[in-house]
Amino acid sequence: MDAYQFPLGVASDEYFCNRTAETELLLCNIQSSTHTVIIAPRRYGKTSLAYRAIAKCGYPYVKIDFYMATDHRDIERAIIKGVNSIIAQVTGVTEKILSSLKNYVKSIKPTLEMGSDGVKLVLEPSMQVSATENICEALQILNAVLEKNRQKAVLLMDEFQEVERVAKDHGIEGAIRHVAQETKNFSVIFSGSKRHLLKSMFNDRNKPLYRLCDEIALERIDAKEYQVFLKPFSLQKWKKVLSEDAFTQLMICTERHPYYVNALLRVLFLQKTLPDKEDVTTEWFKLSARKKEDLFHETNALSIVQRKLLIAIANGTTQEFTSKHFLSTHKLAASTVIKNLNDLRADDFIEKIEGNYSLVDPLLKTVIEHAWP
Ligand SMILES: Nc1ncnc2c1ncn2[C@@H]1O[C@H](COP(=O)(O)OP(=O)(O)O)[C@@H](O)[C@H]1O
Ligand SMILES: [Mg+2]
Repeated sequence: MDAYQFPLGVASDEYFCNRTAETELLLCNIQSSTHTVIIAPRRYGKTSLAYRAIAKCGYPYVKIDFYMATDHRDIERAIIKGVNSIIAQVTGVTEKILSSLKNYVKSIKPTLEMGSDGVKLVLEPSMQVSATENICEALQILNAVLEKNRQKAVLLMDEFQEVERVAKDHGIEGAIRHVAQETKNFSVIFSGSKRHLLKSMFNDRNKPLYRLCDEIALERIDAKEYQVFLKPFSLQKWKKVLSEDAFTQLMICTERHPYYVNALLRVLFLQKTLPDKEDVTTEWFKLSARKKEDLFHETNALSIVQRKLLIAIANGTTQEFTSKHFLSTHKLAASTVIKNLNDLRADDFIEKIEGNYSLVDPLLKTVIEHAWP
């Protein structure tokens, strides 16, 4: 092992650290056709976890990505494309199955297409009916095809919060529920960031997906798991393990945020000699200098009040934002502060753990601390 490519995208194989309990749980759910929703801020490892469990189950799967969807028809297209992909993976689609689907088919046209790798069934939605009806029908057809073939499958619906953002009131969630609550042949893994929005989609009594799923709220990975995980890499690279000091510094700088742990490890593993605590700190600051522009760009749309709050939190204020002292120092009204804290939370800029607010992104924290101490 010469090059160490700690991934900035999906982590798999030896680069996948721990998450054993979550993987087991997700695998069990997939095998028992229980639907799951994985909730965490972006870059916590939702997609990696989903792929890990899917790889273990060995079922045909598809990732349906709603990222950048702009309306309900985009959502419809993405789902039907996903359904077509699963159907193409399921062997043994024949004329007989096609004719047996007649019971389900109202507006979608299933046709057999001759491709380079044989015949495949393709669903074509009708533009005359609503996106919701097409989605419902496509999922029912998928279920029927899987049932006929005695197959199971997994649908990974990533960035699912976008459905509510771009297609609210189109009834798409209701259509998914309608089929998903009956099916024994496929399970859906819903995954997304924007925790508040996603949680309300699945936990509000009056929402269609209420209690459809088992929920996995992904936390950061424990330091002791990272220590075990890093040992073989470090031994192989430097014939030594990282000192306790250096390792602790890695955990402190990155705050165990999985994306930043990897980002920092990537540069540390370029060093010829075993990095010490100072090397870890130095590389972290270099990273913050390189990423500064990007991070500021992400905060561009924030209001003045939100900026003030972010700066205060980055510099260590964790609570008492409505105290007389805080309000008068920043010339703010309590109601304004409360509203803006909630907005920052809804956008995953900050989180509240055991009553204390903190920034979600450890590098943004470092950048703000240095720019606005
Ligand atoms: N179990 C894990 N072990 C090590 N690194 C991980 C793990 N899960 C995710 N990561 C890393 O965290 C970052 C985000 O992972 P990803 O699965 O894309 O997150 P999300 O889907 O939540 O945005 C990537 O750099 C990935 O390599
Ligand atoms: Mg993802």
